[in-house]
Amino acid sequence: MFSQKTVFVAGGTSGINLGIALAFARQGAKVAVLSRRQEKVDAAVAQLREAGATEVLGFAADVRDYPGVVAAFAATRTQFGEVDVLISGAAGNFLAPAVGMSSNAFKSVMDIDLLGTFHVMRAAYEHLKKPGASVINITAAQSWMPSAFQAHVCAAKAGVDQLTRTLAIEWGPAGIRVNSIAPGPIEGTEGVARLVPTEKSREAWMRSIPLARFGQLEDISNAALWLSSGQASYVTGVVLSVDGGLCLGGSSGITSAFMAA
Ligand code: NAP
Ligand code: COA
Repeated sequence: MFSQKTVFVAGGTSGINLGIALAFARQGAKVAVLSRRQEKVDAAVAQLREAGATEVLGFAADVRDYPGVVAAFAATRTQFGEVDVLISGAAGNFLAPAVGMSSNAFKSVMDIDLLGTFHVMRAAYEHLKKPGASVINITAAQSWMPSAFQAHVCAAKAGVDQLTRTLAIEWGPAGIRVNSIAPGPIEGTEGVARLVPTEKSREAWMRSIPLARFGQLEDISNAALWLSSGQASYVTGVVLSVDGGLCLGGSSGITSAFMAA
C-alpha cells in the first residue's frame, strides 16, 4: 500500500517510532529517520535496510534546532520527492514532582515535545504532498489525563494535541490530514523503562488497563499504517488512543500507577 511512498519519522531511531518506520519499510516505503545521536541514526538505518527498505535516509539533528530540521526535510525532498507520511514522535520524559523540576527540566521536555513538534510540522509543510499527505503526532494519555509526576509531559502533550487539531483545520483545505496517536505503555520501550521501573508499578498499570496487557510495537505501527492509508481518508483532527482502554479509567488510575513507581 505504501510502495514508493515517502515516509519521514522524526525521533524514528528507537522504540515506538522506529517500530512505525520499520512497518512502513516492510510495505515498500522510502523512509527517512531523524534523531540527535549519530550512532542511533546509523543503527536505525541498518535495521531499516535489513527490514527490506532499499531507500533509507538518516539525519542526526535535534528537533529543538529549527535549521537542522529544515535541512533534513530539504534533503529528503531532493532524494525521495514529496513527503506522503510524516510521523512526529521525538520526546523526552522522566518521573519528577513539579517541585523537583528546575526551570530547565520543565523547559527541556516542552522544547523537545511541543516546540519540536511545531518545528517538524512547520518545516515539513512545504514538502508534504498536497493533497494526500498524512501527519501523525505521537502523543500520550497524559495530554488529557492529569498525572502526578508528569507536569512537564502533561503540558507538552496537551499542546501537541492542540497543534494536531489546529493544523488539521488549517491544512485540511490543502488535503493534508493531521492526527495524533496516543499509545498506552508499550513493552520493551524507553518510555516503559522510565515510567514503569518496578514490579509494583507494573501491577498498578495493569489494574488501570481494561485489556490487562501492555501494548506491543505492532499495536502502534498497525494503527499508524491504517491512519496514513486511504481507508482513513475522512479522518482528521482526532487523537486515537491505542492503549487497551487505559484512557477510560481517568486520572486516578494513571496517577496511582505513577505513584507506585
Ligand atoms: P524512545 O525510544 O526514547 O524514542 C524517542 C526518540 O526520539 C528516539 O529516537 C530519540 O533518539 C529521539 N529524540 C529524543 N529527543 C530528541 C530531540 N531533541 N531531537 C530529535 N530526536 C530526539 O521512546 P519511546 O518510549 O519509544 O517513545 C516514543 C514516543 O511515544 C514518544 O513521543 C513518547 O512520548 C510516546 N509514548 C511512549 C509510550 C511508551 O510506552 N513508550 C507511551 C505513550 C507515549 P535520540 O536520543 O538519538 O535523539
Ligand atoms: N528529574 C528532575 N530533573 C531532571 C531529570 C529527572 N529525572 N532528568 C533530567 N532532569 C533535568 C536536568 O537536571 C536538567 O536540568 P538542570 O539543567 O536544571 O540541571 C534538565 O532536566 C535537562 O537535562 P539534560 O540532560 O541537560 O537535557 P537533554 O536535553 O540532554 O535531555 C531529557 C532531555 C532530560 C528529557 C533526557 O531524559 C532525554 O534525552 N530523553 C530522551 C529519551 C526519552 O526520554 N525517552 C522516553 C520517551 S517517553
